[in-house]
Amino acid sequence: MDHTYYDFAAFEPVERYRIMANAITPRPIAFITTRSAAGVANAAPFSFFGLLSHDPATLAVGIEPRLDGRRKDTAQNILETGVFTVHIADVALAAQMDACGAPVEPDVDELSLSGLPVTSGQNIDVPRILTAPLAMECRLHSSIELGPARDVIIGSILGLFVRSTAVDADGRFIQQELDVITRVGGGAYATSRDLFSV
Ligand SMILES: Cc1cc2nc3c(=O)[nH]c(=O)nc-3n(C[C@H](O)[C@H](O)[C@H](O)COP(=O)(O)O)c2cc1C
Repeated sequence: MDHTYYDFAAFEPVERYRIMANAITPRPIAFITTRSAAGVANAAPFSFFGLLSHDPATLAVGIEPRLDGRRKDTAQNILETGVFTVHIADVALAAQMDACGAPVEPDVDELSLSGLPVTSGQNIDVPRILTAPLAMECRLHSSIELGPARDVIIGSILGLFVRSTAVDADGRFIQQELDVITRVGGGAYATSRDLFSV
């Protein structure tokens, strides 16, 4: 079978991004809330995101610099405060989650802007979005700076909230009720409605 080979060393970062973003799909989306050291709430989505371990419960998020080279607010806040909450968005939350991907200055409360209903954190001082079907409160485990202002954030998961109607009598999560979305390619989203077993 014939394949086309892409030698990553031969590509500019922007082209490499397009190749990788279209090849590694679907990607789960971490819709992350944080607070700045000054107390300003923030929310933004990240699809360079994955589960690393359940024992200890650990996840990782890759956060790139802003176009002007500054750290994004999410990375800055996590590095400063050591805590963050990762929400998993569903179809109903897609538009508001996507809107939180717009660049906003650090002193602007993006959560108030979004109009999303929030409650205070259980174990950490970070607002939780009530309309998200799932949310995980996390403490910064460590970070790896892959380049200037380009960080891999490794988080210890302290606990998980799940929408109660998405849990059946046996304690199993009902995927159809969670209705989670993922990132496919550069700009598209996909649902998890088409499930099958092998
Ligand atoms: C679905 C989606 C996924 C995204 N994934 C990432 C990502 O993995 N890494 C990243 O640096 N930016 C990602 N972005 C862009 C950030 O959300 C965007 O830069 C945002 O403004 C960062 O906000 P902040 O400065 O408040 O942290 C994504 C945007 C969207 C809509």
